Amino acid sequence: MQRYQFPKGFLWGAATASFQVEGAGKEDGKGPSVWDWFCEQPGKIRDGSNGMVACDHYHRLEEDLDLMLQLGLKAYRFSIAWSRIQPEGRGPALQKGLDFYSRLVDGLLKRGIVPNATLNHWDHPLAIEEQGGWRNRDIVPRFEEYAGIMGKALGDRVGIWASHNEPSVISGLGHEGGWHAPGRKDPKQVVNQVVHHLLMAHGASLRALRSTITKKDAQLGIVICPSAVLPAQDDAAHLEAAEKAWRWENDWWVEPMTKGSYPLEVLQAFAKAGEAPDIQPGDMELIKQPLDYLGVNFYFPRFTKPATRREGWEFMPFSDKREPYTGMGWEVYAPALLCELHNFQRRYKLPLYVTENGCSVKEDAVGADGKVHDPRRIDYLQKHLAMCQTAISEGVDLRGYFEWSLMDNFEWAHGYTQRFGLIHVDYQSLKRTPKDSYHWYSEAIKENGFAADLARLVEPSRGDSRHQP
Ligand code: FCB
Repeated sequence: MQRYQFPKGFLWGAATASFQVEGAGKEDGKGPSVWDWFCEQPGKIRDGSNGMVACDHYHRLEEDLDLMLQLGLKAYRFSIAWSRIQPEGRGPALQKGLDFYSRLVDGLLKRGIVPNATLNHWDHPLAIEEQGGWRNRDIVPRFEEYAGIMGKALGDRVGIWASHNEPSVISGLGHEGGWHAPGRKDPKQVVNQVVHHLLMAHGASLRALRSTITKKDAQLGIVICPSAVLPAQDDAAHLEAAEKAWRWENDWWVEPMTKGSYPLEVLQAFAKAGEAPDIQPGDMELIKQPLDYLGVNFYFPRFTKPATRREGWEFMPFSDKREPYTGMGWEVYAPALLCELHNFQRRYKLPLYVTENGCSVKEDAVGADGKVHDPRRIDYLQKHLAMCQTAISEGVDLRGYFEWSLMDNFEWAHGYTQRFGLIHVDYQSLKRTPKDSYHWYSEAIKENGFAADLARLVEPSRGDSRHQP
């Protein structure tokens, strides 16, 4: 057994997102979001469900806050539904919408939990989408206005802010693959324009927050979903392929924000194909706002090999050689998280949070004993938290970890068929039942660490590449 002890002040958290838990889809003046609309499109959501009720968190706020308190959370990451604040994406803010998030923030603070708010976890107002959504440059001032409203309303209390959650999923799954709202299969130039507008909105929103918030030590950043690139083999060709993949997948998002420029070779490759975004004077300066931290979501590794396509690399299919896939069909390989944290530290030199990490077990159910036994989730959390602790002990400035998710919820195109929660939700009765993993996590938080026997997890050959590319 090895002990994984975390530094004092490590922020143990859990995360959710507005559309996935709140429900109350039409209440208190809330307008439809692009995801409300998307759920109505036939065949888009695996079980034909929607977010109208979800976990009914909107009405069960106090109960959920008490569950967070019993869990011992130090921080809670939530997102704000823009369509609850500005149903049309413009105009005066709805007081009832502001009141809900204000109650949430006060409820957290009362319980000693740091509020961590994300402005955009994918559910922008449908009215905005009808005007071109992220394809239309006009979304940038709209988003900036919304950010300013939230900064004024909550800026005296929220400890951590994020502009977007996983903007690459909006451009990739929403605009390129069509699996997420708005369900489009846009040409690559348009996809890159969406990327550019998302980055501009990120910059504009941080600017708006900085001019409205009053809490002096609030931290402003973004939550991204980098590709956890690893060379599939330890040889020069694979290392080079992995380096290229990092440029296309991760630097493509981070360097505009930190350096004020896109990686040149990637931009040139797009330009050659007529696929580069239209960049206007001042755009890059807007995108490059000071970042207090980077939030990194991690779920699975991306083993990379050389390829002949223009990018020069490609990802390998998942391998289940090490252990079974999660309910989402994702490969489990925690050392990729360690590698990723080292890469972030080395390349961008910013404080880091793991803003999401977790495991879906579809079969989670309340048993005859009234409990939910989810050993696979405990195992997953131990392995990934062990990598976080290792990263810290090796010098990575990792400040906290947010488990995904506090409770089972609406998993986008998968509807309610996936269960990621520390808390089981019965979607008929809406009853909450803390799972075994909730109790395990609670103990780890209390002890600021845990003991586990994880030696078998790290394969030396793969472990060796963890500081690469
Ligand atoms: C992430 C999303 C989050 C959740 C997890 C499983 O990509 O940010 O909302 O769906 O995946």
